[in-house]
Amino acid sequence: MFGLKPNEEVEPLTTCKICGLNYDSELSEDRAEHRKFHAKTMRALRPRPLARFRRLLNATGDPVEVKLGSGQWRHDEIYLRAKMFKREFGYDFPQWSPFGDETPDARGFLFNDDTGTFGHGAIAGACAFRWREFADSAPRWAMDWVWLAPDVRRKGLLSRQWALFQERFGSFYLQPPVSPAMQQFAIKHG
Ligand SMILES: CC(C)(COP(=O)(O)OP(=O)(O)OC[C@H]1O[C@@H](n2cnc3c(N)ncnc32)[C@H](O)[C@@H]1OP(=O)(O)O)[C@@H](O)C(=O)NCCC(=O)NCCS
Ligand SMILES: [Zn+2]
Repeated sequence: MFGLKPNEEVEPLTTCKICGLNYDSELSEDRAEHRKFHAKTMRALRPRPLARFRRLLNATGDPVEVKLGSGQWRHDEIYLRAKMFKREFGYDFPQWSPFGDETPDARGFLFNDDTGTFGHGAIAGACAFRWREFADSAPRWAMDWVWLAPDVRRKGLLSRQWALFQERFGSFYLQPPVSPAMQQFAIKHG
């Protein structure tokens, strides 16, 4: 390392226990970057009710669909959850475009918090479907990913939406790798 004397220790980075970011707490630009990243993460982990999401719920019902041509803020909300999913499972990149330019087949869904944890109008999580072609079977819809805030998990939220997804996407495929929780979910729902 440049400028280090023998035996001199490198100042270890701080890891935020909540958002998981590694940063140098001695550097003001690192602290500023952490504040921004932390606030964004909290919007996904502890969402607050949003007036514009509540208005959409009234107009379209729960879940709220997001696709090519939807307002940018809906894409931002899906993208944030795609990033949380990526981070939780250590994948290389988020499976949603941040630019509102998703492929025409992509269908995202934002879930209302109907568990009473964060309140009506809070975005509890999201999922995405895509049309998939297979080498050895007929093309069909696939659920690409699904991510709920930890505090609303195991409260029946996805179960309550399952029939709607089945109606809409038929006997859709679950895009692997399927998490242990989702495997148990799939067993329960046949
Ligand atoms: C997996 C996930 C989408 C399930 O949604 P959910 O709303 O929490 O699921 P539900 O409460 O409707 O669960 C229904 C059933 O699924 C099974 N299940 C769900 N989560 C489980 C878990 N963590 N461990 C074991 N079984 C689980 C159970 O059989 C459950 O029924 P029960 O609670 O009566 O035992 C959600 O927990 C989540 O976002 N997890 C983290 C991300 C993830 O794993 N995504 C899937 C990637 S393939
Ligand atoms: Zn943090």
